[in-house]
Amino acid sequence: MLILSTSSEDILLCSRLLENGNTVAIPTETVYGLAANALDAGAVKRIFLAKGRPADNPLIIHISDVSMFPDYCYPTKPAYLLAEYFWPGPLTLILPKKPVVPDIVTAGLSSVAVRMPSHPVANKIISVCGFPLAAPSANISGKPSPTRFEHVINDLSKNEFVAAAVDGGNCECGVESTVVSLIGEHPCLLRPGAVTVEMLRTAVPDLTVADAVLQKLPQNEKALSPGLKHKHYAPDAETVCLTGSAESALKYIKNRAKGKKTAVICFDGEENVFSDYTVIPYGTPERPETLAENVFAALRKADGIKDCKLIFVRCAPPEGKGLAVYNRLLRASDFRVVNTEEEV
Ligand code: TXA
Ligand code: MG
Repeated sequence: MLILSTSSEDILLCSRLLENGNTVAIPTETVYGLAANALDAGAVKRIFLAKGRPADNPLIIHISDVSMFPDYCYPTKPAYLLAEYFWPGPLTLILPKKPVVPDIVTAGLSSVAVRMPSHPVANKIISVCGFPLAAPSANISGKPSPTRFEHVINDLSKNEFVAAAVDGGNCECGVESTVVSLIGEHPCLLRPGAVTVEMLRTAVPDLTVADAVLQKLPQNEKALSPGLKHKHYAPDAETVCLTGSAESALKYIKNRAKGKKTAVICFDGEENVFSDYTVIPYGTPERPETLAENVFAALRKADGIKDCKLIFVRCAPPEGKGLAVYNRLLRASDFRVVNTEEEV
């Protein structure tokens, strides 16, 4: 795998690789993406092979200008409104697809997910290419999304289906884009991200929130978004999310750790409370965007601790930008959230 910088020469080289049907990992403002020409079914196939991604999980296509929007789907009025408010940025819109988008991109669905990233490097690469890029997160399927260049290197550097990776440093948002479906009667939030429910409702007040954002999908229920049904990142160690005060969380942990190697992903400033365990601070609940930025890196770090048997994660309320973090932690812990004020 070739390592590229964000220089103009390297962006040109990256675009040439993409033109020739290769996959390249590129930075975006949310997480790193593994990109390929969205209009080239053979190139897109390489994304699925590289990640070991199930073929029934569709990809997002990335554009660099709103003028490209109607080339690949049939945008509605609310779609244009949301695009006007939040593009370029971490928002993905699901709309009826046009035939030019290969079936492999949408996993055979009649809808397609479209987003216009705000990251200058991603935007530049797409505009130099002149075609849209299909790009899921640049991790091996089942691992946390990569938010640091080293995560991409760890997951993909020896992967025969990946030609290159562009080092764009850390990703600003740290969680994947907000996904909104515009297929039904009302716009519906399928995946929370940095564009919050409150922000979306300034443009589309009738926005609904899919049950699967905060609840485990009952078995055999059809997922609105195939991504909601697939198993997401779950560390090898038993993982539990904790709400309540640091003191009550400590009591809860003490009763369970009992000589087992234990990591605590805690809020900044709580390191001393949990100092009997391996502490990984990841931000403050007052600024949930800091938690979003660091949550995947913290989970990767905890997972890397040798012989770690238990991971406890201090969890902020599912409000505002905290909803996206909560949603990802639910999936990492298989929906195990404990209020330590109530349970000791
Ligand atoms: O921030 C992001 O969105 C990143 C960066 C690289 O842009 N990409 C990303 O892609 O997170 P991925 O593949 O990891 O997640 C795409 C999500 C999945 O949950 C998928 O099921 C859903 O979008 N999706 C894609 N097309 C869809 C469609 N037509 N209908 C419903 N859900 C769709
Ligand atoms: Mg992903």
